[in-house]
This record gives sequence, C-alpha cells and structure tokens, in this order.
Amino acid sequence: MPEDTPGQDQTGFEAAWEAAHDVSGWLKEGQARMLYDHASALPAGSTVLEIGSHRGRSSIVLAKALEQSQGRLICVDPFVDGSLFGGSKTREEFEANIAAAAVEDRIELVADYSTRLRPSWTRDIDLLYIDGKHDYWTFTDDLGWAEHLPDGGAILVHDAFSSIGVTLGVLAKILSSSRLRYVERSDSMALFVKATPTRTDRLRIVGELPWWIRNVGIKVLLRLRLRPLARLFGHDSVYDPY
Ligand SMILES: C[S@@+](CC[C@H](N)C(=O)[O-])C[C@H]1O[C@@H](n2cnc3c(N)ncnc32)[C@H](O)[C@@H]1O
Repeated sequence: MPEDTPGQDQTGFEAAWEAAHDVSGWLKEGQARMLYDHASALPAGSTVLEIGSHRGRSSIVLAKALEQSQGRLICVDPFVDGSLFGGSKTREEFEANIAAAAVEDRIELVADYSTRLRPSWTRDIDLLYIDGKHDYWTFTDDLGWAEHLPDGGAILVHDAFSSIGVTLGVLAKILSSSRLRYVERSDSMALFVKATPTRTDRLRIVGELPWWIRNVGIKVLLRLRLRPLARLFGHDSVYDPY
C-alpha cells in the first residue's frame, strides 16, 4: 500500500458503495474506494469540495465517508445542458439520488461553474475531487482550488490518464510543479498531494504516458466502430476507458 493511503474501513465503504452503485455515472468501485478512504480519514468537521457531481454517484460515496466525522461536502456543478450531461433533469436526478441515500444534510450544492466560482472563493477545504469539464483550460483552472487545501491535502482527479485535456493539464501543471506530487491511481483516478515532489514522483507521471496513449487510442478505435481491435488492447466495452 502506498505511504499516503489511509486505513480502509471495509464495512463503511461497502455500505457507501451499495448506496451509490445503482446511480449511473463513470465512477468504478476501486475509484470509489479511493474517494471513500481519503474522505473518511479526514479530521472531524472537514470540508470536501467536489467539482462535477452529475447524478450524484461520487457525491454519495464522499458524503457517506464524511458521516462519522460530521464533515461537509460541497458539490459544484452547473448541470450543463445537452445530451451528454442532461441539464436540469440531471439536477433533479442528483437531488432525488442524494435524498434516497439519506445524505442531503451533509451536502451543500453550488449550481455554478467551478471556473466562475473559484476567483471569489475564500473558504478552506480539506480534500478536492476534480471531475468537471475535461478540457485543458478548465482542468488547469480547477487545479487552482488547491490553494484552499492545507499542506499534505489530497487532490483526486478522475480521467487523469484517459482524457487528452486532463492529461495535458497534468503534464503542463503538475509534472513541473514544486508543490504537487503524484502518488497513485486506480484506473484513471489519480491521487495527487499538496507536497514537494521527488524526482521519482515526476518519473512516475511520465511512466503513466504509455497507458494514457493506449486509452486515447482505444477511444479513437471506439469512435471508428473498431471494437474488435480495441479488444486486442484488453478493452472489452462499448464505453470509453476510464
Ligand atoms: C463526468 S460528470 C461527473 C460524474 C460524477 N462525478 C459521478 O461520479 O457520476 C461531469 C460533470 O461536470 C459538470 N461540469 C461541466 N463543466 C463544469 C464546470 N466548469 N464546473 C463544475 N462542473 C462542471 C457536468 O455538468 C457534469 O455533471
């Protein structure tokens, strides 16, 4: 287990995943476990900020992880219109799913764009989860929320090594950073910590690039309807790798 991984609460996680896994979304079980373990290890009364909540799959996991410590989860999502994210209907589903999981008292929803909210934000946060818009400009702006974390605070990033925009952002802003270090990943969910990186931490980011290129290649093959070819790379799903 990597040195920064907190202790695992197996029963608590199972209950959280049971409440979340029927909510449709892109979070895998191993990734949910990472969220749960880091959020549940925070001190009492901590605040987690999630960028990109969609129907609430990851929000439920985080909120359940904060129950014992009476922490707070701030969910930032403008509920973008369009066929991919669903707009106001998705917001209604988010609210219904949060209520069904009985975590609405733990959650504060801010229905706004992360990039619009950030310049005037003043509250401290203890953990940051980034899963909003995946283009380079939005992701690198979202990394700016780390200024509200304490030293040693965790930043979890979904699609860190499966999306062109996010991975280019990791290369441009984290590879050369002196204050963010890469720790580990579960599929495309990566853990970064607000701390001075070593040369080995930086080299491990570079070491993920072949896996990122494979994932982008699989996306291209799926767009070209070449699923049998994607299978040759170990990807047997109609969905993008994440
Ligand atoms: C991949 S989904 C999030 C999935 C969610 N974390 C889950 O576990 O199911 C991305 C979400 O980001 C939201 N989004 C897009 N641009 C955003 C922005 N600038 N700030 C915050 N959220 C944004 C979309 O409305 C969408 O709901």
